[in-house]
Amino acid sequence: MAKKLHVHEYQPGQADGPTLVLLHGFPVDHRMFDRMATYLTPRARVLGVDLPGLGESRKFLPDNASMRASARAVMESLEIPAASPLIVAGLSMGGYVAQAIAAEFGDRLAGLILLDTRMTADAPAARENRLKVAATALEQGSSEIVAGMALATLGAESRGNRPELVEFMQDLIADQTGAGVAWSQRAMADRVDQTTTISNFPGEMLVIAGDQDEISPPDVMAEIARAARHGLFEIVADAGHMTPVEQPAAVAHLINTYLDRVAPSSA
Ligand code: MLT
Repeated sequence: MAKKLHVHEYQPGQADGPTLVLLHGFPVDHRMFDRMATYLTPRARVLGVDLPGLGESRKFLPDNASMRASARAVMESLEIPAASPLIVAGLSMGGYVAQAIAAEFGDRLAGLILLDTRMTADAPAARENRLKVAATALEQGSSEIVAGMALATLGAESRGNRPELVEFMQDLIADQTGAGVAWSQRAMADRVDQTTTISNFPGEMLVIAGDQDEISPPDVMAEIARAARHGLFEIVADAGHMTPVEQPAAVAHLINTYLDRVAPSSA
């Protein structure tokens, strides 16, 4: 098994700047952030991590599939200078991992950004379904069983009028392996309720929802912001579940503004 997760550095940032770690959704990899990263403030060092089993971390498959295993793998794979404030931003599955990081390594975080995700565990039927999907992915040896997520994760506007985004998502999904899909599904099935983690997080938390997200709709995301001590809730127009893919400039603008609040420039 590979020893570390693949970490892609989008930009090096500036000496006194924060480190922003981007955690992608399922069943894709860090490339879902490629366009958004071009709009992020040059002050920040920006890293995109491929989570276990996916992207260039396809050979990293810990024995126990869990969000905690993902969270630990992310923290062990990063090299962050002590002086650089660390902000973790996770979308959907990446948001589950970000919450597991906050649960275990909360004192290391200067900020937490949750995009299009949930803080609750799965209901039993959803968990069962994930285990079935995992078994099929292994049997088929490919990501075919989740190919439909290319359309399901985009908003109605993108699905109908932006074929280049549909193709982008299809290509990212087709690149994933059956083993990676299975590991991720088993890890998501295993996850615990993180409401207490959210309400214990001491800093400001940015919560971002696409107005057309059918997987983690805005009312679910608003609850996360309400549960947080200092939750900032933002809705992105004309976007589904993949806000950074569908509206990269708008999401980057929200993140840049947040970084200025939680990790202001010392100049
Ligand atoms: C994702 O986008 O990461 C997935 O929708 C997460 C999930 O299946 O719960």
